[in-house]
Amino acid sequence: MSILVTGGAGYIGSHTVVELLNRGEEVVIVDNFCNSKPVMLERIKEITNKDFKFYEADILDKNKLDAIFEENPDIELVIHFAALKAVGESTKKPLEYYYNNVTGSIVLLETMKKHNCKKIIFSSSATVYGNPKEPRITEEFPTTRPTNPYGTTKLMIEEILEDVYSADNEWSIALLRYFNPIGAHKSGKIGENPNGIPNNLMPYIAQVAYGKLDHLNVFGNDYDTVDGTGVRDYIHVVDLAKGHIKAIDKLRENKGVLIYNLGTGHPYSVLEIVNAFEKANNIKIKYEIAPRRPGDIAICYADPSKAERELGWKAEYGIEEMCKDSWTYTQNELSGRL
Ligand code: NAD
Ligand code: UD1
Repeated sequence: MSILVTGGAGYIGSHTVVELLNRGEEVVIVDNFCNSKPVMLERIKEITNKDFKFYEADILDKNKLDAIFEENPDIELVIHFAALKAVGESTKKPLEYYYNNVTGSIVLLETMKKHNCKKIIFSSSATVYGNPKEPRITEEFPTTRPTNPYGTTKLMIEEILEDVYSADNEWSIALLRYFNPIGAHKSGKIGENPNGIPNNLMPYIAQVAYGKLDHLNVFGNDYDTVDGTGVRDYIHVVDLAKGHIKAIDKLRENKGVLIYNLGTGHPYSVLEIVNAFEKANNIKIKYEIAPRRPGDIAICYADPSKAERELGWKAEYGIEEMCKDSWTYTQNELSGRL
């Protein structure tokens, strides 16, 4: 049996493929490289010493996707990472986001149904909780329409998957709601290397550390938090990847729609992250206080106890390792050493 990974050349996908190969799963990757590079696939092979099948294809290409399932009749489960994910860009190009993410997911689900493959793990996000009443979020919290098209695609796809299950109870569906993935593989060969100026905190800090960017803008220091800056739940990408392995085991034995928060449960403010990065890597990060970023919330972190209880999964890496591993990978990537 094999596992189809859409978006497997991307940041979270590549780390998950490493974990899949390490535990002996057969992997088929589909990616169109719209936000990744072919070299990532070579690096996955270097890290694991294992091989996998790869198709350069767009999940919107129904015929190609169909042919992939025809050629690989043993695909038992799909891990669906492929999506566009830049929040700011999504507000400028909403139709591209809805088309790629929502229509792409529908094409994928139709193709899966046609080939009687009814197990899927979907990459969702804590953004579906909107601005929660309490900062420590459990899966029972209501979802609300996010403030940007990217986030809305995540909620829409979750709802589509709920309906798919309601119509056919043979499906096994995991909605994994990620908090803030950072860090990189210990090898320093794969990690997050965003195009252009990073939107997210950790890649921005790492590029300031490298000297590629002058200073970090801290978006607001007047929130009702420990030091006034925004508070989030940062999770090491390898821990996140391992969460997918546990979800596979769960879906192999259960039908239904299973929802899990994947976070550490530990809140950190922006300035705490800056300090942790400085301490872990012995490097100074220049920062300035800037206005709040529209759409940001003050505090959001996971109650990850359901995943621990039901999946036997718990994040293991702490903030120091997240900062160290992000920095190692960024230096390797930006110096062209890899
Ligand atoms: P990424 O951009 O690094 O990876 C996505 C991959 O999907 C890329 O390799 C891209 O080329 C590919 N892709 C996109 N559209 C495609 C299409 N139509 N056909 C084929 N391939 C396509 O992003 P990531 O950070 O690894 O995120 C993976 C998933 O997790 C996404 O669905 C994202 O929305 C979700 N997510 C990410 C975060 C985060 O902070 N990184 C947080 C919550 C949820
Ligand atoms: C953002 C997205 C969310 C998406 C997630 C992962 C928004 C509103 N939310 O979450 O939908 O799922 O990324 O891709 O964009 N910060 C700074 N300076 C920076 C960058 C960030 O101070 O240059 C602060 C932010 O204000 C926030 C924290 O750092 O308090 C984390 O920001 P970020 O890494 O962008 O993640 P989220 O905003 O949590």
